Amino acid sequence: MRMEKTLLRSFISTTKLEFMPTNLKITLVSQSRRESVDFDNLPFGQVFSDHMFTADFDGEKWTNFEIKPLENLSVHPGNLAWHYGQAIFEGMKASKSITGTPLLFRPEMHIQRLNASATRMCMPEFPEDMFIQAVNTIVDLEKKWIPEEAGSALYIRPFMIAMDEALGVRPSALYKFMIICLPVGPYYSKPVSLKAETTYVRAVEGGVGEAKTAGNYAGSLYPARLAKQEGFDQIMWLDAKEFKYIQEVGTMNIFFVLKDRIITPSTTGTILKGITRDTFIQVLRDKGYMVEERRITIDEIYEAFANGELLEVFGSGTAAVMAKVKRISYKGKEIELDPDSYKIGPSLKAHIEGLRNQTIEDNKGWVIPVQSLETIS
Ligand code: COI
Repeated sequence: MRMEKTLLRSFISTTKLEFMPTNLKITLVSQSRRESVDFDNLPFGQVFSDHMFTADFDGEKWTNFEIKPLENLSVHPGNLAWHYGQAIFEGMKASKSITGTPLLFRPEMHIQRLNASATRMCMPEFPEDMFIQAVNTIVDLEKKWIPEEAGSALYIRPFMIAMDEALGVRPSALYKFMIICLPVGPYYSKPVSLKAETTYVRAVEGGVGEAKTAGNYAGSLYPARLAKQEGFDQIMWLDAKEFKYIQEVGTMNIFFVLKDRIITPSTTGTILKGITRDTFIQVLRDKGYMVEERRITIDEIYEAFANGELLEVFGSGTAAVMAKVKRISYKGKEIELDPDSYKIGPSLKAHIEGLRNQTIEDNKGWVIPVQSLETIS
């Protein structure tokens, strides 16, 4: 499956960031696995495309930029990421326009958030322009892996891990940055039920809740398992001090549609700064809705429900896009909603999908056409 063709591609700086131009080595698979994949049945996270991007941080600089056939890594048992958790990631999507052009969505937001996560986790930043070009190049190579069905996309997973081979609680000197790609269908295929968690916490002010770091997800697994045993799909996290303020769902940010406004928790360090969240807020404001980003108590939501003012609850995320919430449970008190009546959540989903296939005009510069490698020999 290897070494059919090796190309060298020059990275050319496209932004004001300064870095030494360097070479990207490209090794293509001799035979793609694409034809053996059932694109009508794409469970999220199970199917990987042919290639991956890798780069190494040697203690001083990023080096060894390479796209090569997807393969296992050989990692020392003393790898610091495994023991002390220096591991961060992003989730972004590539789609195709109705005329077949591969498109990226707000890629610069993802590298900025990755670098914010890197800073919090004491890891090196990855240069923005290298990131954009690496994503562009791998998506161009994998364009036949971009599903065309509505609600499907090529999920792009950039991530960085520590690579020092030594034990000791200290920042690694060495790191690996990688990009893998997965054709995916919808993350949630049905409306979800949420348990407002009153025993376990996800994040506290001053912690790492805002970083997209592996440990945040690991810490959610046990409470999520208990919630599943009680019949819920996901947890709605509350603040860690009073169990009063709503944070996020763990896989998504959350929105509440009231009669006269739409509210979503403010990003005060304990929740992920969702890019879909930001997109929804901007789209809603442009359409004339009043959107408030603020602290929201769980009691306020129950009160709005009791008064008939809570019209919709939905989550937002790159993977989930928009997921309707059908039920919330808090200390045994239930909110049952009618997802079939939702209008705003589905209109946001349709809007983002319209931007992603260029049937809706992008007046914000969010949609970035992938540049073809064919121009480079
Ligand atoms: C994403 O929305 O891309 C995420 O990283 C969430 C993850 C649970 C799939």
